[in-house]
Amino acid sequence: MITSVMNRRAACLGMLGGLTALAVPFRSSARAAYDGANRVFRLDGEGVTYAFGVDSAGQIQSLHWGGALQADDRVPAAPKPADYSGFDRANSVTPLEYVGFGGGLAIEPSLKISYPNGVRDLVLKYASHTIGADGIVVRMKDVSAEVYVELRYAMDRATGILARSAVVENKTRDWIRVDQMAAATLNLPFAEDYELHYLTGRWAAEWTLQKRPLEVGETVLESRMGMTGSQNNPWLAIGREGQTDEEDGPVWFGALAWSGSWRITVDKDIVGHPRVTAGYNPFDFGYRLKPGETLETPIFYAGYSDKGMGGASRLMHRFQRTVILPGAPEPKLRPVLYNSWEATEFAVDEAGQIALAEKAATLGVERFVMDDGWFGKRNNDRAGLGDWVVNPEKFPKGLGPLISKVRGLGMEFGLWVEPEMVNADSDLYRAHPDWVINFKGRPRSEGRNQMVLNLARKDVRDYILKALDLLLRENDIAFLKWDHNRSWSEPGWPEVAAEDQQKIYVDYTKNLYWIFAELRRRYPKLEIESCAGGGGRVDLGIMHLTDQIWPTDNTDPFDRLRMQDGFSHAYMPGVMMAWVTASPNWVNKRSTSLEYRFLSSMQGCLGVGDNLNHWTPEDFATAQHMIEAYKSVRQTVQRGDLYRLVSPQGDSERSVTQSVSADRRQAVLFTFLHSSSTVDATPIIQLRGLDPALRYSFREIAGKADADTPATASGAYWMQHGIRVPLKGDFQAGAVIFEVAQ
Ligand code: GLA
Repeated sequence: MITSVMNRRAACLGMLGGLTALAVPFRSSARAAYDGANRVFRLDGEGVTYAFGVDSAGQIQSLHWGGALQADDRVPAAPKPADYSGFDRANSVTPLEYVGFGGGLAIEPSLKISYPNGVRDLVLKYASHTIGADGIVVRMKDVSAEVYVELRYAMDRATGILARSAVVENKTRDWIRVDQMAAATLNLPFAEDYELHYLTGRWAAEWTLQKRPLEVGETVLESRMGMTGSQNNPWLAIGREGQTDEEDGPVWFGALAWSGSWRITVDKDIVGHPRVTAGYNPFDFGYRLKPGETLETPIFYAGYSDKGMGGASRLMHRFQRTVILPGAPEPKLRPVLYNSWEATEFAVDEAGQIALAEKAATLGVERFVMDDGWFGKRNNDRAGLGDWVVNPEKFPKGLGPLISKVRGLGMEFGLWVEPEMVNADSDLYRAHPDWVINFKGRPRSEGRNQMVLNLARKDVRDYILKALDLLLRENDIAFLKWDHNRSWSEPGWPEVAAEDQQKIYVDYTKNLYWIFAELRRRYPKLEIESCAGGGGRVDLGIMHLTDQIWPTDNTDPFDRLRMQDGFSHAYMPGVMMAWVTASPNWVNKRSTSLEYRFLSSMQGCLGVGDNLNHWTPEDFATAQHMIEAYKSVRQTVQRGDLYRLVSPQGDSERSVTQSVSADRRQAVLFTFLHSSSTVDATPIIQLRGLDPALRYSFREIAGKADADTPATASGAYWMQHGIRVPLKGDFQAGAVIFEVAQ
């Protein structure tokens, strides 16, 4: 019999005292059900069914994660677990939902704990569950110790994206130490031909898409550095070789909502079961729980699409827009911004910024952002971080006159901050040298001449909040670009007991989230950008508290095409800031036209970051045209469905993307060419996602379609026949808007 019992939130609150700090509520949850006869739990969202069950040994096994089953399909009960051999024990070859380290486990554990007496054995069995309108909570208990684990499941109905997290509770009479803890283990259906897609990078070269077959063994994606990191991003997608491509075939995907050290392990055990385990990074981890204390994991979000990599990313984009972002389900559109960094670097002052603001306003810019250099003794990157007071030489009357001017020009004002950092040459460090993350008596490594403040400390957390609060209270600031320009080193916390110092990996990030949440609570109109020297802190955890992302410091418009493509696999273009900056660009000394630079940036959230004092009247005219055109398609680019029609990856000479508005009445096509050659003929581009029966007319933003292209045609025509926008030369680009003909 299928039953539905009580409200999950009430159940959670009752059981564990409301540990909902990391939870993101869904607007509408998928149907959750329990088949008591088979002891099978089931979540059914749009296009997806997820099922798991309690077996005869009391273990919880995965039963189905994939396309939707019919409501009256009965999922068979979990089979009896069995050892494969004396070496390959049942718990290492059974697809378990949450794997305790104990009982001879050979595979990646979801949870490993130690007791004061040296015991490190955990065998979790089903204890009870609650099930309700917004999900399922399963409670497990160790076979003998009073250690409880709560597994939380909720599914967003519209996208079928599952949220999984876990809470461990120490009800013993002594402390226990959590050595390793994942939000979830997820098992994929047994198959031989999986391929893993993931993202790697480094500073100024983030978002490199990688692919490798899933072989027996482990692939580890991780950050050990206290922050999300750009070396790996906590996102992955798994397709099937020969079946999955951009628009077709099954894709299982997931992302961890955590901005501290993290790890996602993808493994295939010795009998071929593929699984994903995601959570806190066990490297250098240790979290002691006193009697009665709990530790909660971040959420791992997992989804499934049968529409290829494109379908998977469209689901992720929709999920971010409707669930994750502040303002979800209708987050505000990103304004066109101007940023001073590449124009003036640290040499900001009132007159210089006003001159830029006056010029930016004539372009149609909506938000003027002053970047680094405005505070303390910040004339270069060797001093000033930590001293969040306006530099009196650069701004003798404070920020007031600049902000009034910017507001008078019809723009909002935004400011760069890097609150988690301190330079040795700062009043803050001179007063509080103990506030940085460090090991007692050991060198303090600097990165970009700075150290990381220990936000896990309450006094540091409160100092940062107070400094920012003062700034926001005294000035009309609509936006903060929140930067973080180095990863951690010497991760010590000397003020707490040696056994508790590794709590820093959890407590730092929780306090960071707390500061963001508190600022947003006090200043509800404030918007924030997550930046970490580019894309070093991009994950669903920070996205829940910030409105936009700076994906990379690399502003070369050609390099960007590949990075934007990589970014779009995991995150939505509607948060991805992209500035138009100088040519030749500082990264590769590559020269490109202003039009090309605009079109590259218009694939995301448009900004301008060049020194406008160097622009000609023609540059201003081009920029005005492009910004006006961008505003006419902004809703579609930022909120619509993205189709990656031609990939820029590998040796591709081309790149084509198309965005379609939610109502399918507008689409915009961006097409780029690296270099033409004599044998090149520009291929015809078939659109996607239009309404075949509606008639669309087209107009070019840049480039020219073939002369014989019909002025209007049906969606079917554009999708089946297509359009040709010939491009010739190096670094050429075109863009075309399609709109339902009146
Ligand atoms: C980082 C950011 C840049 C800029 C500088 C300022 O590198 O990514 O955009 O803000 O810091 O120092």
